[in-house]
Amino acid sequence: MITTQNINQVRAQILAWRVKGESIAFVPTMGNLHLGHMTLINEAMKHADHVVSSIFVNPMQFGATEDLSAYPRTLEADKLALSQAGVELLFTPTSETIYPKGMQQQSYVEVPEIGDQLCGASRPGHFRGVATIVCKLFNIVTPDIALFGRKDFQQLMIIKAMVDDLSMPIEIMGIETIREASGLAMSSRNGYLTSEQKNQAAQLKTTIDKLCLAIKKGQSAPLAIKNAQQALITAGFTPDYIELRSTKDLSQVTDNHSELVILAAAYIGDTRLIDNLCFIR
Ligand code: PAF
Repeated sequence: MITTQNINQVRAQILAWRVKGESIAFVPTMGNLHLGHMTLINEAMKHADHVVSSIFVNPMQFGATEDLSAYPRTLEADKLALSQAGVELLFTPTSETIYPKGMQQQSYVEVPEIGDQLCGASRPGHFRGVATIVCKLFNIVTPDIALFGRKDFQQLMIIKAMVDDLSMPIEIMGIETIREASGLAMSSRNGYLTSEQKNQAAQLKTTIDKLCLAIKKGQSAPLAIKNAQQALITAGFTPDYIELRSTKDLSQVTDNHSELVILAAAYIGDTRLIDNLCFIR
């Protein structure tokens, strides 16, 4: 596996593959890789001649109160896992390479409406940071296809909207959430949890499942959501939101919507966890 911090070296390798008419799948990450990431890589292998990945803990998507420096960094273990999985090119840029003028002077990408609500409302600037870095990485790697986890459902929708709005010739593929045996969605943030908190955290999925069942049985959405919020509090969470939205565009649900998604974000201690469930009513 070629590992480089250098944009030109990435471009040169991509060009070498392109002149042979070969295709490229891309999996961008912030490192600290777990089974969820490796599932994206394994899936990527099925869709292109070459798989490229990146590891960059993107400062632009962290809020002022969010601890960027505490984000887990496990570069050597990540490199080993990626090369064993068959990744051929790994881009590990520095912040100076990505934001040479500093983040304040940097042009940015913002996806309106979808990006302003839910996690976007709780974490102002977060999705601007995500869309900007993904756009930059796409411009560097120029993949045919890029793969993202469905755990970050709102992020996936934002990236799809960006690609569509900006006419990028890239297929965006969402891959099912990988879970611990307890049901807890795999996330680098789980590493912040004690084993007791991890048991507690599994209740996020249970609560979402119960809410889904209540809605399917015809319970009124506001009542079912209120019960779900209470269930989260009882389980020891500080809920940020638990909401029912349309899968198509994350708009508020009306009687006409049948494809729905429950999205939830809740804190255990200082750790913010998210999860979601798509279903048909
Ligand atoms: O989901 C992530 O790990 C990050 O938000 C991404 C897409 C790599 C952008 O930094």
